[in-house]
Amino acid sequence: MGAHGPRAGAALRVQSLSAPLKPPPDRLYGRARGHALRPRQERLLAEVLPRLRLDPAQAADLAAAFAPRAAEVWLEVGCGSGEHALALVARHPGIGLIASEVFANGLASLLGALAPETVPLPGNLRLWDEDARALIRLLRASSLSRLFVLFPDPWPKARHAKRRFIHPALLPEIARVLRPGAEWRVATDDPTHQAWLEEVFAAQTLFAAPPPATRRPDDWPPTRYEAKALAAGRQPRYWTLRRAG
Ligand SMILES: C[S@@+](CC[C@H](N)C(=O)[O-])C[C@H]1O[C@@H](n2cnc3c(N)ncnc32)[C@H](O)[C@@H]1O
Repeated sequence: MGAHGPRAGAALRVQSLSAPLKPPPDRLYGRARGHALRPRQERLLAEVLPRLRLDPAQAADLAAAFAPRAAEVWLEVGCGSGEHALALVARHPGIGLIASEVFANGLASLLGALAPETVPLPGNLRLWDEDARALIRLLRASSLSRLFVLFPDPWPKARHAKRRFIHPALLPEIARVLRPGAEWRVATDDPTHQAWLEEVFAAQTLFAAPPPATRRPDDWPPTRYEAKALAAGRQPRYWTLRRAG
């Protein structure tokens, strides 16, 4: 590793926010497809995804994108295979959840778990299969009541810090779309990313950001990456931030 590739433990010193930060690039994620999709997964992406996809025009009246009209709208960024998103949709029928994911294999798993061949699609779920930042830019002010960013890609190398979803440059945009008092849940198991988040949250005033918990709060459904982290002996941290104002 050279000057741009510090060890995880050196991350804070190297990435200090007092140093100039490169702005995030337009594309944050790596690949949009992994292993080959099975025929059923291809069919789900071609036929079922369009029925659940949020139309950008629906951003003007977001609650009306759900049937019945949602009492409030929540957004999950990087929902992976959708375990957490689908648990929320089942537990909270009155809310509208937008689950955002750029990875086709994750979306295919989520669609498969819905068993759309036999079960009606949930009216309180919409999918966004582009970069979640594009959606955030589209949304009207205060249109979200809750945001979830759970185990985002950590990009632990310092030279990749600009690719981290939770980045000082994005915080004002996130704050704009969350209504005052809205909850923002964040979790990560990566020590470099944990240190990064501590630093990013300490340097801002848009959100109340108490120290993270080391145990998942009871009403947070688990995620696949959390299970992987725990099985590998890594210690996740769980932040509950609140939009100030
Ligand atoms: C490490 S996985 C975690 C998945 C899930 N949250 C979990 O905990 O199991 C991070 C996910 O975020 C997705 N992702 C990364 N950047 C994104 C972006 N800008 N918009 C939407 N999804 C994104 C990736 O494709 C990946 O599936």
